[in-house]
Amino acid sequence: MTLSELKAHYASHGQSHVFAGWDTLSDKQRSAFQTQLESVDLDLLADLYLLRNEPSAALPAREYIDPLPVVGADEVPPSAKTAGELALWNSEVAVLVVAGGQGTRLGFDKPKGLFPIGPVSGASLFQIHAEKVLALSWKYETEVPLLVMTSAATHAETVEFFHEEGFFGLAESQVKFFQQGTMPALDLATGQLLLDAPGQLFLGPNGHGGTLTALHDSGLLAELEAAGIKQIFYFQVDNPLVKIADPSFVGQHIQSRAEVSSKVVFKEVGEEKVGILALLDGRCGIVEYSDMPTEMLNERGDDGALAFRAGNPAIHIFDVPFLKRITTGAHRLGYHIAKKKVPYYDDATGTTVTPTVENALKFELFVFDALPLADRWLAVQTVRDEEFAPLKNATGNDSPDSARALMIAQAYRWLGLPKGSVPVEISPLYALDADEARSKVEASFAPTVPTYLQAE
Ligand code: UD1
Repeated sequence: MTLSELKAHYASHGQSHVFAGWDTLSDKQRSAFQTQLESVDLDLLADLYLLRNEPSAALPAREYIDPLPVVGADEVPPSAKTAGELALWNSEVAVLVVAGGQGTRLGFDKPKGLFPIGPVSGASLFQIHAEKVLALSWKYETEVPLLVMTSAATHAETVEFFHEEGFFGLAESQVKFFQQGTMPALDLATGQLLLDAPGQLFLGPNGHGGTLTALHDSGLLAELEAAGIKQIFYFQVDNPLVKIADPSFVGQHIQSRAEVSSKVVFKEVGEEKVGILALLDGRCGIVEYSDMPTEMLNERGDDGALAFRAGNPAIHIFDVPFLKRITTGAHRLGYHIAKKKVPYYDDATGTTVTPTVENALKFELFVFDALPLADRWLAVQTVRDEEFAPLKNATGNDSPDSARALMIAQAYRWLGLPKGSVPVEISPLYALDADEARSKVEASFAPTVPTYLQAE
């Protein structure tokens, strides 16, 4: 597109203001800005702007929403673990962590994966996840691939951190970084594109749903398939308790021939801030807590339990052929629209404005919108305290304090000790589960000082 065609295209969408600072840009800046502007889908943004006041998720009518059948944590067939271990031995499983979010609520100014969460060791989230992958790689004598999805906001610092830390013992070739896409933001009142600076659009991460397209577009999906990977285990960087590539879960997924499998934690209170797995029009889907009407969140079945209690810890297994199918062809995930406070460059005054109220629309794809595209699915309950310690806020619920307390409590349980007051932490390189932990400590073990059990 020539510059005059580009200007005409932007003018026809009422977006000419982006060129206001054009004359002040160097040739290099102009060319970069032109490339950026050419990549924006103005028709899509115009459509999304029209939807700004629609309910955020088009939920089916109540009669088409049902509780999802979930396999209980105590209903796992013993053969599942063997099937999962076989897949790991055969190098068929890769692990994917989404780490593109900015962790604003946590009040940490670095990528969340760098957060020092280890209660005794101070180990970062990335270290804990990487060491789980390393322990699996040792155990199953294979290099389990670790795919790290970053965003423009987190990429450079994340890659640098892995280098500084020697990839936490993993082979460098085992870790594959790939970046999710970006999405512009629109001014809430006018629908105009927001700028970061003259010659620079404001661009935010396009949501973790961007993982799937980025996996495909980066060529990584094809590379994994060529290497014989059949399943991708997906989780979020903000959960230090996640049981990465849990062999029983992998085995259940394989045995049920599901295209997608999800772990479920049973909700304790209706308004807990987790997504809810449910049958939507007869298919497995997830409704975000903020999108489900309050009456439904609190609805109870005949047994008195919450009707929609299948909470989403964001732990899934995706089959590679399924991912191929949904990332090529006509399948496209729809954007979720959120009203947010976004600082922006005001070309009329030449200053950066930091708003105090929501001034912008941001657009995100959600990975779980892929679930209803699966023809076969599986949902498996996991025990919350064993596998879910979300790190979202600086204090209170889902904070560093609550996550560390859960990690310490798990260490005591794994070691078969009564709850104690001294912090104990188990490195993934020491043990990946209770059986392994118990087999390694002396029967007389009784911690009196903060203790970090790590590989010798
Ligand atoms: C998310 C889930 C919720 C689930 C909860 C469990 C959504 C919309 N909701 O809520 O159903 O119960 O986790 O903890 O996901 N991320 C990216 N790129 C992005 C945005 C996010 O990689 O563009 C990553 C973050 O780094 C993080 C994860 O996605 O690892 C979750 O994002 P977050 O915004 O914290 O989701 P929640 O609202 O907490």
